[in-house]
Amino acid sequence: MALQDFIAELDSLAGEAQDAFTGAADRDALEAARVEFLGAKAGRLKAVQKGMGKVDKTDKPAAGQKLNSVKKAIEQAFEQATGRLAQSGGKAAQDSFDVTLPGVPVRVGRLHPITQTIERMKEIMGRLGFSAVEGPEIEDDWHNFEALNIPLSHPARDPLDNFYLSVASANAAGGSPPPQPSPKGGGSSKPLLLRSQTSTVQIRVMEQVLANTVASGAQPPVRIVSLGRVYRPDTADATHYPMFHQIEGLLVDKGVTMADLKSVLRMFCQSYYQRDGDDAEDVHIRFRPSFFPFTEPSVEVDINWQGGWMEIGGAGMVDPNVLRAVGYDPEEVTGFAFGMGVERIAMRQHNITDIRDLYTNDVRFLAQF
Ligand code: DAH
Repeated sequence: MALQDFIAELDSLAGEAQDAFTGAADRDALEAARVEFLGAKAGRLKAVQKGMGKVDKTDKPAAGQKLNSVKKAIEQAFEQATGRLAQSGGKAAQDSFDVTLPGVPVRVGRLHPITQTIERMKEIMGRLGFSAVEGPEIEDDWHNFEALNIPLSHPARDPLDNFYLSVASANAAGGSPPPQPSPKGGGSSKPLLLRSQTSTVQIRVMEQVLANTVASGAQPPVRIVSLGRVYRPDTADATHYPMFHQIEGLLVDKGVTMADLKSVLRMFCQSYYQRDGDDAEDVHIRFRPSFFPFTEPSVEVDINWQGGWMEIGGAGMVDPNVLRAVGYDPEEVTGFAFGMGVERIAMRQHNITDIRDLYTNDVRFLAQF
């Protein structure tokens, strides 16, 4: 037998087998096709293989090679057809598909509990006339400390208590410079840090308003809140995390007093917690004397909670030094400021006992809120 005839016979067999396998509509048809082409005893491939005995001796190696490759191709076609039927579940399974079965539920996403808290705080403060503004998370020490009346000697500026950024300097030999007080507006070598408090935004806003005042002749009032992330190198535990959120408030106008501060904070707390079923009248706040470099007098703010008092932040009348630092005349205007921890308020609201749960991003936990 001529080699060409043998090869032609194999090729046509491969084509037929391929057609039979791809055309098989179910497992039985596929099995029948397998027996027909690949059957060990009476399969058609076996029959063609027998013809190899009649091929010339010199052509035998080529004939053998062709036989092997065709055999492989037919086996592969069979595997593919098996896979296809398994995937579709076979025709029989398809026919019995029950369209009345309930579908696979789609999981609907939701806002993170901290984002929900922030949105709610903005909304309440908005109703009290405060607009929400943002400030940068990378700050210079003018806005984070200096303009807030926190001098270089103050422990809050310790490099171990802040995330200072190392900045490439032109003079590479000297290592990283220690924090230096920077002039207003800053020089090129001013230290940068991840802000440790949102009070920075007080300064940025007052500077901005003053710049606009000069341009337009308009006077303050400034009436803003700023909500965002702050960073401190605290070891994470149930109540500390190196990143958390604060809400900062600032009101500067003519004749602002401590009574305004207390009224605003009381109304804020009443609105915030009232929605959780409490009567507004049942929500009280109290002030305790305290100290912050940028307010005078300063207070710690507590809210009544489960028979006791819970501290929610600090507040006070804006220190005249701060007003002067941004170019305001403390004889003309006064103001109050407050800063509160967002996590603390959200955790008490939802009875969350470990701050780390908020940032592990386990959806089984987050989906509860
Ligand atoms: N910035 C303070 C802190 O992070 C909180 C604070 C206290 C903000 C008093 C204020 C304030 O605006 O008046 O601990």
